[in-house]
Amino acid sequence: MSSEAKVLLITGGGSGIGAETARRAAARGYRIAVNYRSREAEAKAVVAEIIGKGGQAVALPGDMAREADIVRLFDETERALGPVTHLLNSAGINGRRGRVEEYDAANLVHVLTVNVVGLMLCCREAARRMSTRHGGKGGAIVNVSSMAGTLGGRPGSSAYAASKGAVDAFTKGFAREVAAEGIRVNGLRPGMVLTEMTEGRLNDVAFRESIEASIPMGRIGRSGEIADAALWLLSDEASFITGAIVDASGGGYRI
Ligand SMILES: NC(=O)c1ccc[n+]([C@@H]2O[C@H](COP(=O)([O-])OP(=O)(O)OC[C@H]3O[C@@H](n4cnc5c(N)ncnc54)[C@H](OP(=O)(O)O)[C@@H]3O)[C@@H](O)[C@H]2O)c1
Repeated sequence: MSSEAKVLLITGGGSGIGAETARRAAARGYRIAVNYRSREAEAKAVVAEIIGKGGQAVALPGDMAREADIVRLFDETERALGPVTHLLNSAGINGRRGRVEEYDAANLVHVLTVNVVGLMLCCREAARRMSTRHGGKGGAIVNVSSMAGTLGGRPGSSAYAASKGAVDAFTKGFAREVAAEGIRVNGLRPGMVLTEMTEGRLNDVAFRESIEASIPMGRIGRSGEIADAALWLLSDEASFITGAIVDASGGGYRI
């Protein structure tokens, strides 16, 4: 990587892990593109906070289920901040939880489209711009997966878990493909972390206690702990690390 501007695009940056990574990355000198789908106000608040502290950031709309939105997102990031040098794929959804007997195809397609296809297309756009094969200057990518991908997820989450298993396999293959072209690609598997995605369920005291009892460290994670791990993988401190999947999970979990 050159010493030119570091431009970090974060999908799903308006909340949770993405938003916390945006704040912390800005403090480390990255210019940040905060992508959102519906959380425009939240994304703009993150951007205002960064700019208020002297950083550079923009909030950009884009639905990970729409290929044209993804291409436009990368183009608009480049116009606003310069070429994307770093990418955090944090956008993701749980989909409808339930037993396999209750599945419906539309919900399955939507989960896989957002969590897998959208993420892959973001990686495609990044590769087209970062790869030395295409005249790019290299870059670093982190794909946010989940510990669910390792064990099949907690009860009712097998479709979500399958999407994250696909993210892990893709991350390893993609990393090898672009390893000699200046791009590092790594995965990050959070365990249970308190964010907008989980707070509804974690507000149930009995559920929260059962989750904490299943984690060797005895507690759920904080979004800042995931953000710091992502920033390390994105940074030059991880310059010889690619195709790795880092667990940030308090030691995993028992189902
Ligand atoms: N929290 C946990 O315990 C946990 C554990 C393991 C893995 N993860 C993973 O961590 C990542 C971040 O989740 P989080 O915990 O930070 O939850 P979150 O606050 O719900 O963040 C998810 C973000 O993804 C965005 N998003 C969803 N669908 C999108 C789409 N079609 N296009 C663009 N953006 C979209 C959401 O924005 P909009 O509402 O605007 O769509 C939201 O800002 C996800 O990939 C999740 O699977 C979380």
